[in-house]
Amino acid sequence: MKVLIVGSGGREHAIAWSVAKSDKVDKIYCAPGNAGIAEYAECVDIGAMEFEKLVTFAKDNAIDLTIIGMDDPLVGGVVDAFEAEGLRVFGPRKNAAIIEGSKAFSKDLMKKYHIPTAAYENFDNKEDALAYLETAKFPIVLKADGLALGKGVLICNTLEEAKEGVKTIMEEKKCGDAGNRMVIEEFMTGREVSVLAFCDGKTVQCMTSAQDHKRAKDGDQGLNTGGMGTFSPSPFYNDEVKAFCEEHIYQPTMDAMASEGRPFVGVLFTGLMITEDGPKVLEYNARFGDPEAQVVLPRMKNDIIDVMEACIDGCLSDIDLQFEDNAAVCVVLASDGYPVSYQKGFVIEGLDRFKGVDDYYCFHAGSKKTDKGIVTNGGRVLGVTAKGKDLKEARKKAYEATEWISFENKYMRHDIGKAIDEA
Ligand code: AMP
Ligand code: GLY
Repeated sequence: MKVLIVGSGGREHAIAWSVAKSDKVDKIYCAPGNAGIAEYAECVDIGAMEFEKLVTFAKDNAIDLTIIGMDDPLVGGVVDAFEAEGLRVFGPRKNAAIIEGSKAFSKDLMKKYHIPTAAYENFDNKEDALAYLETAKFPIVLKADGLALGKGVLICNTLEEAKEGVKTIMEEKKCGDAGNRMVIEEFMTGREVSVLAFCDGKTVQCMTSAQDHKRAKDGDQGLNTGGMGTFSPSPFYNDEVKAFCEEHIYQPTMDAMASEGRPFVGVLFTGLMITEDGPKVLEYNARFGDPEAQVVLPRMKNDIIDVMEACIDGCLSDIDLQFEDNAAVCVVLASDGYPVSYQKGFVIEGLDRFKGVDDYYCFHAGSKKTDKGIVTNGGRVLGVTAKGKDLKEARKKAYEATEWISFENKYMRHDIGKAIDEA
Protein backbone atom coordinates (compact mmCIF):
# COMPACT_ATOMS: atom_id res chain seq x y z
CA MET A 1 0.00 0.00 0.00
CA LYS A 2 0.92 3.65 -0.40
CA VAL A 3 1.03 5.90 2.66
CA LEU A 4 1.19 9.69 2.91
CA ILE A 5 2.41 11.27 6.17
CA VAL A 6 1.64 14.94 6.83
CA GLY A 7 4.19 16.92 8.88
CA SER A 8 7.89 17.65 9.03
CA GLY A 9 9.24 17.12 12.54
CA GLY A 10 10.86 14.45 14.69
CA ARG A 11 7.43 12.99 15.39
CA GLU A 12 6.75 12.50 11.68
CA HIS A 13 10.23 10.99 11.25
CA ALA A 14 9.45 8.48 14.01
CA ILE A 15 6.08 7.73 12.36
CA ALA A 16 7.78 7.29 8.95
CA TRP A 17 10.37 4.96 10.49
CA SER A 18 7.58 2.92 12.07
CA VAL A 19 5.51 2.81 8.84
CA ALA A 20 8.60 1.78 6.85
CA LYS A 21 8.88 -1.37 9.02
CA SER A 22 5.44 -2.60 7.91
CA ASP A 23 5.46 -5.33 5.19
CA LYS A 24 2.15 -3.94 3.98
CA VAL A 25 3.74 -0.70 2.81
CA ASP A 26 5.39 -0.34 -0.61
CA LYS A 27 5.76 3.41 -0.84
CA ILE A 28 5.77 6.32 1.61
CA TYR A 29 5.33 10.00 0.80
CA CYS A 30 5.69 12.82 3.30
CA ALA A 31 4.38 16.38 2.96
CA PRO A 32 6.48 18.39 3.43
CA GLY A 33 8.93 16.08 5.31
CA ASN A 34 12.60 16.79 6.05
CA ALA A 35 16.07 15.47 5.18
CA GLY A 36 15.83 12.55 7.64
CA ILE A 37 12.35 11.49 6.57
CA ALA A 38 13.66 11.48 2.97
CA GLU A 39 15.51 8.27 3.83
CA TYR A 40 12.20 6.37 3.94
CA ALA A 41 9.82 8.60 2.08
CA GLU A 42 9.56 10.70 -1.02
CA CYS A 43 9.12 14.23 0.32
CA VAL A 44 6.51 16.31 -1.45
CA ASP A 45 6.56 20.09 -1.38
CA ILE A 46 3.06 20.64 0.03
CA GLY A 47 2.49 22.41 3.35
CA ALA A 48 0.51 20.74 6.12
CA MET A 49 -2.21 23.42 5.90
CA GLU A 50 -2.69 23.14 2.12
CA PHE A 51 -5.67 20.80 2.40
CA GLU A 52 -6.81 20.99 -1.23
CA LYS A 53 -3.33 20.21 -2.53
CA LEU A 54 -2.94 17.34 -0.07
CA VAL A 55 -6.28 15.82 -1.07
CA THR A 56 -5.48 16.19 -4.78
CA PHE A 57 -2.06 14.59 -4.24
CA ALA A 58 -3.64 11.67 -2.37
CA LYS A 59 -6.19 11.13 -5.16
CA ASP A 60 -3.69 11.49 -8.02
CA ASN A 61 -1.23 9.10 -6.39
CA ALA A 62 -3.80 6.54 -5.22
CA ILE A 63 -2.74 6.90 -1.57
CA ASP A 64 -4.30 4.15 0.55
CA LEU A 65 -3.78 5.79 3.92
CA THR A 66 -2.86 9.31 5.03
CA ILE A 67 -1.49 9.86 8.55
CA ILE A 68 -1.72 13.35 10.01
CA GLY A 69 1.07 14.05 12.51
CA MET A 70 0.51 17.70 13.40
CA ASP A 71 -2.05 19.56 15.48
CA ASP A 72 -2.76 22.58 13.22
CA PRO A 73 -4.18 20.65 10.26
CA LEU A 74 -6.20 18.37 12.57
CA VAL A 75 -7.76 21.30 14.40
CA GLY A 76 -8.35 22.97 11.02
CA GLY A 77 -10.32 19.98 9.69
CA VAL A 78 -7.89 18.17 7.37
CA VAL A 79 -9.44 14.81 8.22
CA ASP A 80 -12.88 16.06 7.20
CA ALA A 81 -11.40 17.29 3.88
CA PHE A 82 -9.95 13.83 3.14
CA GLU A 83 -13.10 12.00 4.22
CA ALA A 84 -15.27 14.24 2.04
CA GLU A 85 -13.40 12.79 -0.95
CA GLY A 86 -13.73 9.21 0.30
CA LEU A 87 -10.03 8.99 1.26
CA ARG A 88 -8.76 6.94 4.22
CA VAL A 89 -7.08 9.08 6.81
CA PHE A 90 -5.79 8.56 10.36
CA GLY A 91 -6.57 11.31 12.86
CA PRO A 92 -9.55 12.93 14.59
CA ARG A 93 -12.11 14.99 12.69
CA LYS A 94 -12.33 18.71 13.39
CA ASN A 95 -15.17 18.26 15.88
CA ALA A 96 -13.00 15.90 17.95
CA ALA A 97 -9.61 17.63 17.48
CA ILE A 98 -11.20 20.54 19.38
CA ILE A 99 -10.16 18.62 22.51
CA GLU A 100 -6.71 20.09 21.75
CA GLY A 101 -7.82 23.14 19.78
CA SER A 102 -9.78 24.71 22.65
CA LYS A 103 -8.61 24.44 26.22
CA ALA A 104 -11.94 25.93 27.36
CA PHE A 105 -13.76 23.10 25.54
CA SER A 106 -11.58 20.43 27.12
CA LYS A 107 -11.95 21.89 30.61
CA ASP A 108 -15.75 22.05 30.26
CA LEU A 109 -15.79 18.47 28.97
CA MET A 110 -13.79 17.26 31.98
CA LYS A 111 -16.04 19.16 34.38
CA LYS A 112 -19.24 17.81 32.80
CA TYR A 113 -17.99 14.20 32.87
CA HIS A 114 -16.20 14.36 36.24
CA ILE A 115 -12.72 13.72 34.82
CA PRO A 116 -10.10 14.87 37.34
CA THR A 117 -8.39 18.12 36.39
CA ALA A 118 -7.33 21.42 38.00
CA ALA A 119 -10.15 23.73 39.17
CA TYR A 120 -10.67 26.52 36.61
CA GLU A 121 -12.80 29.27 35.10
CA ASN A 122 -13.09 30.25 31.43
CA PHE A 123 -13.09 33.89 30.34
CA ASP A 124 -13.94 35.61 27.08
CA ASN A 125 -13.06 39.12 28.17
CA LYS A 126 -10.21 40.79 29.97
CA GLU A 127 -12.33 42.63 32.57
CA ASP A 128 -13.89 39.47 34.00
CA ALA A 129 -10.52 37.71 34.04
CA LEU A 130 -8.90 40.60 35.92
CA ALA A 131 -11.77 40.76 38.42
CA TYR A 132 -11.49 37.02 39.07
CA LEU A 133 -7.77 37.32 39.83
CA GLU A 134 -8.47 39.70 42.73
CA THR A 135 -9.80 36.81 44.83
CA ALA A 136 -7.60 34.04 43.43
CA LYS A 137 -4.84 32.04 45.15
CA PHE A 138 -1.26 32.15 43.79
CA PRO A 139 0.61 30.72 41.95
CA ILE A 140 -2.06 30.50 39.28
CA VAL A 141 -1.98 29.28 35.67
CA LEU A 142 -3.21 31.29 32.66
CA LYS A 143 -3.84 29.50 29.39
CA ALA A 144 -4.74 30.93 26.00
CA ASP A 145 -7.69 28.91 24.70
CA GLY A 146 -6.34 28.01 21.25
CA LEU A 147 -3.20 26.49 19.73
CA ALA A 148 -0.16 28.54 20.68
CA LEU A 149 2.92 26.38 20.01
CA GLY A 150 3.40 25.74 23.72
CA LYS A 151 3.64 29.49 24.37
CA GLY A 152 0.07 29.97 25.58
CA VAL A 153 0.61 28.84 29.20
CA LEU A 154 1.79 31.27 31.87
CA ILE A 155 2.47 30.31 35.46
CA CYS A 156 2.10 33.45 37.58
CA ASN A 157 3.35 33.76 41.14
CA THR A 158 1.73 37.07 42.05
CA LEU A 159 -1.40 39.08 41.32
CA GLU A 160 0.70 41.63 39.44
CA GLU A 161 2.26 38.98 37.19
CA ALA A 162 -1.13 37.44 36.52
CA LYS A 163 -2.67 40.79 35.60
CA GLU A 164 0.21 41.37 33.16
CA GLY A 165 -0.35 37.86 31.80
CA VAL A 166 -4.04 38.49 31.13
CA LYS A 167 -3.11 41.67 29.25
CA THR A 168 -0.43 39.87 27.25
CA ILE A 169 -2.84 37.16 26.16
CA MET A 170 -6.15 39.05 25.79
CA GLU A 171 -5.13 42.64 25.02
CA GLU A 172 -1.75 42.47 23.26
CA LYS A 173 -2.77 39.14 21.68
CA LYS A 174 0.73 37.67 22.00
CA CYS A 175 -0.67 34.31 20.89
CA GLY A 176 -2.98 35.81 18.26
CA ASP A 177 -6.60 34.64 18.14
CA ALA A 178 -5.68 31.76 20.46
CA GLY A 179 -6.06 34.40 23.18
CA ASN A 180 -9.62 35.48 22.37
CA ARG A 181 -10.64 33.27 25.26
CA MET A 182 -8.62 32.02 28.17
CA VAL A 183 -8.66 29.51 31.00
CA ILE A 184 -7.45 30.47 34.46
CA GLU A 185 -6.70 27.40 36.53
CA GLU A 186 -5.37 26.15 39.82
CA PHE A 187 -1.61 25.50 39.96
CA MET A 188 -0.83 21.84 40.52
CA THR A 189 2.38 20.23 41.73
CA GLY A 190 3.64 16.71 41.13
CA ARG A 191 5.26 14.57 38.46
CA GLU A 192 4.21 15.07 34.85
CA VAL A 193 3.59 12.07 32.62
CA SER A 194 2.47 11.88 29.00
CA VAL A 195 0.29 8.97 27.95
CA LEU A 196 -0.50 8.47 24.28
CA ALA A 197 -3.39 6.22 23.32
CA PHE A 198 -4.81 4.80 20.12
CA CYS A 199 -8.55 5.41 19.88
CA ASP A 200 -11.27 4.15 17.54
CA GLY A 201 -14.13 6.31 18.81
CA LYS A 202 -15.20 3.86 21.53
CA THR A 203 -12.16 1.82 22.54
CA VAL A 204 -8.95 3.32 23.87
CA GLN A 205 -5.65 1.43 24.10
CA CYS A 206 -2.78 3.17 25.84
CA MET A 207 0.79 3.08 24.69
CA THR A 208 3.68 2.96 27.11
CA SER A 209 4.17 6.13 29.18
CA ALA A 210 6.71 8.88 28.57
CA GLN A 211 7.91 12.10 30.11
CA ASP A 212 8.85 15.27 28.27
CA HIS A 213 11.17 18.07 29.43
CA LYS A 214 9.53 21.26 28.21
CA ARG A 215 11.86 23.93 29.57
CA ALA A 216 14.86 25.02 27.51
CA LYS A 217 17.54 24.72 30.20
CA ASP A 218 18.88 22.18 32.68
CA GLY A 219 17.04 21.91 35.97
CA ASP A 220 13.76 22.94 34.27
CA GLN A 221 14.91 26.53 33.91
CA GLY A 222 14.37 28.82 30.96
CA LEU A 223 11.46 29.19 28.59
CA ASN A 224 8.91 26.59 27.56
CA THR A 225 9.80 24.83 24.31
CA GLY A 226 8.19 22.19 22.13
CA GLY A 227 10.15 19.64 24.20
CA MET A 228 13.89 19.19 24.80
CA GLY A 229 13.90 15.45 25.40
CA THR A 230 11.88 12.50 26.63
CA PHE A 231 12.19 9.17 28.34
CA SER A 232 9.94 6.13 28.34
CA PRO A 233 8.55 4.49 30.40
CA SER A 234 8.02 6.85 33.33
CA PRO A 235 8.83 5.17 36.67
CA PHE A 236 6.25 7.48 38.25
CA TYR A 237 3.46 5.94 36.17
CA ASN A 238 3.12 2.83 38.30
CA ASP A 239 0.36 0.20 38.23
CA GLU A 240 -1.78 2.06 40.73
CA VAL A 241 -1.61 5.34 38.80
CA LYS A 242 -2.26 3.50 35.55
CA ALA A 243 -5.32 1.68 36.96
CA PHE A 244 -6.73 4.97 38.26
CA CYS A 245 -6.23 6.71 34.92
CA GLU A 246 -7.81 3.88 32.98
CA GLU A 247 -10.91 3.97 35.16
CA HIS A 248 -11.26 7.72 35.70
CA ILE A 249 -9.57 9.39 32.74
CA TYR A 250 -9.00 7.59 29.41
CA GLN A 251 -12.20 5.60 28.94
CA PRO A 252 -14.36 8.36 30.47
CA THR A 253 -12.79 10.81 27.99
CA MET A 254 -13.51 8.48 25.09
CA ASP A 255 -17.11 8.00 26.28
CA ALA A 256 -17.56 11.73 26.89
CA MET A 257 -16.48 12.59 23.35
CA ALA A 258 -18.79 9.93 21.92
CA SER A 259 -21.71 11.21 24.04
CA GLU A 260 -21.10 14.72 22.73
CA GLY A 261 -21.35 13.44 19.15
CA ARG A 262 -17.60 13.91 18.67
CA PRO A 263 -16.17 10.37 18.54
CA PHE A 264 -12.39 10.56 18.82
CA VAL A 265 -10.45 8.48 16.29
CA GLY A 266 -6.66 8.78 16.23
CA VAL A 267 -4.06 9.29 18.92
CA LEU A 268 -5.18 10.99 22.12
CA PHE A 269 -2.34 12.43 24.17
CA THR A 270 -3.16 12.97 27.83
CA GLY A 271 -0.76 15.17 29.77
CA LEU A 272 -1.10 14.15 33.42
CA MET A 273 0.08 15.65 36.67
CA ILE A 274 0.39 13.03 39.40
CA THR A 275 -0.58 15.15 42.40
CA GLU A 276 -0.91 14.26 46.08
CA ASP A 277 -4.65 13.95 45.44
CA GLY A 278 -4.10 11.54 42.55
CA PRO A 279 -3.56 11.95 38.81
CA LYS A 280 -5.21 14.94 37.11
CA VAL A 281 -5.33 16.00 33.47
CA LEU A 282 -3.10 18.95 32.51
CA GLU A 283 -4.06 18.93 28.86
CA TYR A 284 -5.16 16.81 25.94
CA ASN A 285 -3.57 16.75 22.52
CA ALA A 286 -5.15 15.21 19.45
CA ARG A 287 -1.99 13.56 18.05
CA PHE A 288 1.30 11.91 18.99
CA GLY A 289 3.52 14.05 21.21
CA ASP A 290 6.83 15.31 19.94
CA PRO A 291 9.37 14.20 21.20
CA GLU A 292 7.24 11.57 23.02
CA ALA A 293 6.68 9.67 19.73
CA GLN A 294 10.45 9.33 19.39
CA VAL A 295 10.73 7.19 22.54
CA VAL A 296 7.36 5.44 22.35
CA LEU A 297 7.28 4.22 18.73
CA PRO A 298 10.72 2.54 18.75
CA ARG A 299 9.44 0.41 21.67
CA MET A 300 6.17 -0.63 19.98
CA LYS A 301 6.06 -4.25 18.80
CA ASN A 302 2.94 -4.01 16.62
CA ASP A 303 2.78 -3.10 12.96
CA ILE A 304 1.64 0.54 13.17
CA ILE A 305 -0.46 0.16 10.02
CA ASP A 306 -2.54 -2.64 11.60
CA VAL A 307 -3.20 -0.48 14.64
CA MET A 308 -4.08 2.65 12.67
CA GLU A 309 -6.38 0.73 10.33
CA ALA A 310 -8.13 -0.85 13.33
CA CYS A 311 -8.73 2.66 14.71
CA ILE A 312 -10.27 3.83 11.44
CA ASP A 313 -12.37 0.66 11.10
CA GLY A 314 -13.62 0.79 14.70
CA CYS A 315 -12.11 -2.56 15.69
CA LEU A 316 -9.25 -1.52 17.97
CA SER A 317 -10.44 -4.03 20.59
CA ASP A 318 -9.10 -6.79 18.26
CA ILE A 319 -5.55 -5.46 18.58
CA ASP A 320 -3.18 -6.72 21.24
CA LEU A 321 -1.00 -3.62 21.67
CA GLN A 322 2.46 -4.54 22.93
CA PHE A 323 5.63 -2.75 23.90
CA GLU A 324 9.13 -4.01 24.48
CA ASP A 325 10.17 -4.51 28.08
CA ASN A 326 13.00 -1.98 27.87
CA ALA A 327 13.42 1.80 27.91
CA ALA A 328 14.26 4.65 25.57
CA VAL A 329 15.65 8.16 25.99
CA CYS A 330 15.58 10.97 23.43
CA VAL A 331 17.83 14.02 23.73
CA VAL A 332 16.94 16.91 21.45
CA LEU A 333 19.85 18.64 19.74
CA ALA A 334 18.68 22.20 19.20
CA SER A 335 20.10 25.39 17.74
CA ASP A 336 21.51 27.61 20.48
CA GLY A 337 19.01 30.39 21.17
CA TYR A 338 15.90 28.22 20.67
CA PRO A 339 13.04 28.92 21.42
CA VAL A 340 13.65 32.66 20.92
CA SER A 341 15.99 33.28 18.01
CA TYR A 342 18.64 31.13 16.40
CA GLN A 343 20.61 30.72 13.20
CA LYS A 344 20.03 27.98 10.66
CA GLY A 345 21.95 26.52 7.74
CA PHE A 346 24.90 24.87 9.53
CA VAL A 347 26.18 21.57 8.13
CA ILE A 348 25.38 18.55 10.32
CA GLU A 349 28.24 16.03 10.61
CA GLY A 350 28.09 12.49 11.90
CA LEU A 351 24.64 11.36 10.75
CA ASP A 352 26.10 8.22 9.12
CA ARG A 353 27.16 6.88 12.52
CA PHE A 354 23.52 5.90 13.12
CA LYS A 355 23.28 3.75 10.00
CA GLY A 356 23.18 0.01 10.61
CA VAL A 357 23.43 0.23 14.41
CA ASP A 358 20.60 -1.27 16.42
CA ASP A 359 18.85 0.64 19.18
CA TYR A 360 20.19 4.07 18.18
CA TYR A 361 18.04 6.47 16.18
CA CYS A 362 18.56 9.96 14.92
CA PHE A 363 15.16 11.48 14.18
CA HIS A 364 15.29 14.76 12.28
CA ALA A 365 13.18 17.64 13.56
CA GLY A 366 14.56 20.56 11.53
CA SER A 367 16.98 19.63 8.78
CA LYS A 368 17.31 20.29 5.06
CA LYS A 369 19.28 18.73 2.24
CA THR A 370 21.46 21.23 0.36
CA ASP A 371 24.48 21.17 -1.98
CA LYS A 372 26.69 21.44 1.13
CA GLY A 373 25.05 18.39 2.70
CA ILE A 374 22.33 18.17 5.36
CA VAL A 375 22.05 21.44 7.28
CA THR A 376 20.23 22.67 10.37
CA ASN A 377 16.84 24.12 9.52
CA GLY A 378 14.98 24.76 12.76
CA GLY A 379 15.12 25.36 16.50
CA ARG A 380 14.89 21.69 17.30
CA VAL A 381 17.25 19.97 14.85
CA LEU A 382 17.57 16.28 15.79
CA GLY A 383 16.14 13.86 18.35
CA VAL A 384 18.95 11.49 19.31
CA THR A 385 17.30 8.41 20.75
CA ALA A 386 18.65 5.18 22.22
CA LYS A 387 17.04 2.09 23.68
CA GLY A 388 18.55 0.20 26.59
CA LYS A 389 17.57 -2.57 28.99
CA ASP A 390 16.51 0.08 31.48
CA LEU A 391 16.29 3.85 31.68
CA LYS A 392 19.80 4.29 33.02
CA GLU A 393 21.33 2.35 30.16
CA ALA A 394 19.16 4.09 27.57
CA ARG A 395 20.13 7.47 29.00
CA LYS A 396 23.84 6.65 28.92
CA LYS A 397 23.60 5.44 25.31
CA ALA A 398 21.55 8.43 24.16
CA TYR A 399 24.06 10.89 25.63
CA GLU A 400 26.96 8.93 24.06
CA ALA A 401 25.25 9.20 20.70
CA THR A 402 24.77 12.96 21.04
CA GLU A 403 28.59 13.13 20.75
CA TRP A 404 28.49 11.47 17.32
CA ILE A 405 26.83 14.57 15.90
CA SER A 406 28.36 17.96 15.45
CA PHE A 407 27.07 21.23 14.05
CA GLU A 408 27.74 24.85 14.84
CA ASN A 409 25.49 26.20 17.63
CA LYS A 410 24.58 22.68 18.84
CA TYR A 411 22.68 22.96 22.12
CA MET A 412 21.14 20.34 24.37
CA ARG A 413 20.00 19.77 27.92
CA HIS A 414 22.26 17.50 29.97
CA ASP A 415 19.66 16.28 32.44
CA ILE A 416 17.11 14.49 30.25
CA GLY A 417 15.86 11.55 32.28
CA LYS A 418 17.74 12.65 35.36
CA ALA A 419 14.52 12.34 37.36
CA ILE A 420 14.91 8.61 36.86
CA ASP A 421 17.78 8.57 39.31
CA GLU A 422 15.51 10.05 41.95
CA ALA A 423 12.67 7.55 41.41
P1 AMP B 1 -0.02 22.56 28.70
O1 AMP B 1 0.27 23.13 27.34
O2 AMP B 1 -1.40 22.77 29.17
O3 AMP B 1 0.49 21.16 28.90
O4 AMP B 1 0.95 23.37 29.68
C1 AMP B 1 2.33 23.44 29.45
C2 AMP B 1 3.06 23.15 30.74
O5 AMP B 1 2.69 24.09 31.74
C3 AMP B 1 2.73 21.78 31.34
O6 AMP B 1 3.50 20.77 30.80
C4 AMP B 1 3.01 22.02 32.81
O7 AMP B 1 4.39 21.91 33.06
C5 AMP B 1 2.61 23.45 33.01
N1 AMP B 1 1.22 23.51 33.50
C6 AMP B 1 0.09 23.59 32.78
N2 AMP B 1 -1.00 23.61 33.57
C7 AMP B 1 -0.55 23.57 34.83
C8 AMP B 1 -1.17 23.57 36.12
N3 AMP B 1 -2.49 23.65 36.25
N4 AMP B 1 -0.38 23.49 37.20
C9 AMP B 1 0.96 23.43 37.09
N5 AMP B 1 1.61 23.44 35.93
C10 AMP B 1 0.88 23.50 34.80
N1 GLY C 1 5.77 17.19 23.83
C1 GLY C 1 4.58 17.91 23.98
C2 GLY C 1 3.75 17.98 22.78
O1 GLY C 1 3.94 17.26 21.81
O2 GLY C 1 2.81 18.75 22.79
